[in-house]
Amino acid sequence: MRKPFIAANWKMNKTVPEAEAFLSEFLPEVSNVTDADIVIAPPFTALKTVGEKLKGTNVILAAQNVFYEEKGAYTGEISPSMLLDAGCSYVIIGHSERRQYFNETDEIVNKKIKTALKNGLKVILCIGESLAQRQEGKTNDVLKEQLTNGLKDVDIENIVIAYEPIWAIGTGVTATPEQAEDAHSYIRKEISSIYGNKAEALRILYGGSVTPDNVNDLMTCPDVDGALVGGASLKPDSFSKIVKFKRTGG
Ligand code: PGA
Repeated sequence: MRKPFIAANWKMNKTVPEAEAFLSEFLPEVSNVTDADIVIAPPFTALKTVGEKLKGTNVILAAQNVFYEEKGAYTGEISPSMLLDAGCSYVIIGHSERRQYFNETDEIVNKKIKTALKNGLKVILCIGESLAQRQEGKTNDVLKEQLTNGLKDVDIENIVIAYEPIWAIGTGVTATPEQAEDAHSYIRKEISSIYGNKAEALRILYGGSVTPDNVNDLMTCPDVDGALVGGASLKPDSFSKIVKFKRTGG
């Protein structure tokens, strides 16, 4: 049984006071939740403060990005040890916005994953196809390529995968549960062809316009183990509703 994993990706939103205001409402709302991993990825500038507030709670800190070198003359970049120092357990790597706006290739993603894992961070690896790729019937090819190149020479033990179809991110168009399950079961199959049994324990999150209204249906899919939530994670009320999605038991 895979423990559900519900993560907030705040992207470039929230100052420190805004992050604090969110937590003072959100943390009491979810303090009784023990059957899911709850994760928040604030912007770098709020990591330290949010990390302090999360100490002793049931909510885990993540970063949205990391560099693939450990230290040195890389103006503007952030290293794994800096993230650990701020209290991060996870880092999101390969988000489509980073691939699209910051030219992150699978090769860069792979280097970042290796440095993050080597330094003791766990990784949320994002993959997903564009609308054009889906319409051309290339979804599985794209997923396979991102998985094989992104995870080259990497052990998946400390990895969570987020399937985020680009056409569903921030658009209000969610993948149907069938589309999500098709992609997730394909991802698990590909992972098992490389890693064998370990694929069974791998958590695969869905991301792309997840809301309190669609989370229950998505979470009933056998291979959907959680959600990576952007827009709907910015309000304590909607994100706590997503965290408290309806468990079906079993
Ligand atoms: P969204 O973003 O929930 O706003 O679609 C998801 C993501 O990019 O992780």
